[in-house]
Amino acid sequence: MHLLDSQEQLRRWRRGIPATSSVVFVPTMGALHLGHQSLLEYASTLGDVLLVSIFVNPLQFERENDLLNYPKTMDADLAMLQGVGAHAVYRPTTEDMYPEGYQVRISAGPAALRFEGAARPGHFDGMVTVVHKLFQRCQPQHAVFGQKDAQQLFLVQRMVEDLDMDVQVHAAKTWREPDGLAFSSRNVHLSEKARQQATVLHRALQAAKAAFDNGCHDPQALGQSMRHCFEHSPAKLAYADVISDTDFEAAQPGVAATWRAVIGARLEGVHLLDNLELGQVPNS
Ligand code: PAF
Repeated sequence: MHLLDSQEQLRRWRRGIPATSSVVFVPTMGALHLGHQSLLEYASTLGDVLLVSIFVNPLQFERENDLLNYPKTMDADLAMLQGVGAHAVYRPTTEDMYPEGYQVRISAGPAALRFEGAARPGHFDGMVTVVHKLFQRCQPQHAVFGQKDAQQLFLVQRMVEDLDMDVQVHAAKTWREPDGLAFSSRNVHLSEKARQQATVLHRALQAAKAAFDNGCHDPQALGQSMRHCFEHSPAKLAYADVISDTDFEAAQPGVAATWRAVIGARLEGVHLLDNLELGQVPNS
């Protein structure tokens, strides 16, 4: 496994990959967990060469403390990457990614201002900016993102389409604990008690799915079925809505689309998010 610690090292390694081999790229911020492992295993089936980046991107953190406190587990990360057969790991420094004088940012567009973006101004602009730079540097044929961060996935897919980038973006399914809690690097910040309470997110999504499967195609009522689950929970709900996968906007009754329940909540100051596809709604 090659460790590439600068753009120059990456460039040299990338030039050595034959044009007949396809490169699959997985961008990460490290602190890899079992959810990443399943994503990486899926990624390794998509092409010939697996390239992973580890970079905690300052542009997508609005609070200095969150950036500084982001968990760093480099040795364990490298062991996992070795285990899944990654061919190379790109670990740029902040100076390598954003040299002095750096100023350009990509605007992720209006869908970046809702849900996760509402409370984190600039977060998604910073995210698409670094993903664009990583795609430019790594020149992958394929890239894999977790379905758990559904809004991020949507915005990356939009960027690739809107900016004519020649990368096929794949979604890796959300990996869950046996009680339904989605794997996340943030789970380590929860106390044992809050860890149990965090299952309310998955329960709420399942409540929406059960209502949808029972024929409820009213986004308001589906949102209400999720909010209801939080009535006796210490978790502070940020949003619980149903969106259309087409544009990540609030689902419109009677307009054909795939609907998805999205949810964000805070527990012990830790922001958790999750989502679940509900199903197809036909035109009425
Ligand atoms: O999801 C993440 O870990 C980050 O947002 C990403 C895609 C690596 C960009 O910094």
